Amino acid sequence: MSHPPTLITSRPLDEYCRLFGLTRSSLGTLPGPVLDCPGGAAGLVAEARALGCQVIAADPLYALPAPDRTALARAGRAAIATAAGTDPGRYLPGGHAHRPEKYLRSWDRAHRLFAADSAAHPDRYIAAALPRLPFAEGTFALTLSSYLLFAYPELFAADDQLAALLELVRVTAPEGEVRVHPLYDGSGRRCPHLPELRATLGAHRISTEIRRVAPSDRAGRPHRILILRAVNRRSSRLRTPAGIHLTTAQPTRRTDARALGPQPSTRAVGTSTADAPTP
Ligand SMILES: C[S@@+](CC[C@H](N)C(=O)[O-])C[C@H]1O[C@@H](n2cnc3c(N)ncnc32)[C@H](O)[C@@H]1O
Repeated sequence: MSHPPTLITSRPLDEYCRLFGLTRSSLGTLPGPVLDCPGGAAGLVAEARALGCQVIAADPLYALPAPDRTALARAGRAAIATAAGTDPGRYLPGGHAHRPEKYLRSWDRAHRLFAADSAAHPDRYIAAALPRLPFAEGTFALTLSSYLLFAYPELFAADDQLAALLELVRVTAPEGEVRVHPLYDGSGRRCPHLPELRATLGAHRISTEIRRVAPSDRAGRPHRILILRAVNRRSSRLRTPAGIHLTTAQPTRRTDARALGPQPSTRAVGTSTADAPTP
């Protein structure tokens, strides 16, 4: 599996919470595991464990040897540092614009956690690439996908975005949901065909919602995320953490889900959590 040309980022758990309108406590009380796809070199898997939340990360990055992953993560960190130096308001989350060093330290810590955790627990880091994931239908209580599908339109054309979103919904439990961010590309240009994409998802019996989320702390700014749920709910087949099964079976689309409940609530590919125009 060759590695696609994207930035490798090392976000900490708290940044994930801000991005997706989540809180530590909401993660800690989920009824099943979380999928982070793409997982990048984030600290999420390791940090969420301490909350009692099992996160599985999926990313083609994990097919690479550890030294190569580290080199790519360092290059990503350097790109963010350079971008932050030129336009901190754009590339750093709200509240960090005047403190880029602190923000970069949070990435350094997240990367250390990622490196140690992925070495100790490689089973939590699955080498896989959308639109095909090696997980059984309905495996995850919550699926997160940040800074890929709409951030890199050169990698994901409209059909690819649709296929990837269908796959993310497939592996998510009926009472779960998929959260996607951002809805704009690296230039801040909103996805022009998002209304059509949502209509097509609706035809696949997947409901979509664009939710304005307030960040989980005062440092961030409100922004919008896309939430997907299958329409016709079925009984849950959530697996216990020990029971996550990898599969090479052909994806089959599932219909339906329930939200996590209302949650309050980035080139250098999007790091800022600032709101951006959405359809
Ligand atoms: C900018 S990073 C985002 C990582 C993380 N979600 C975050 O918000 O920091 C983009 C990631 O997408 C991964 N990627 C590229 N193509 C992919 C694909 N087809 N399926 C899954 N991940 C992919 C890259 O390896 C990289 O780790």
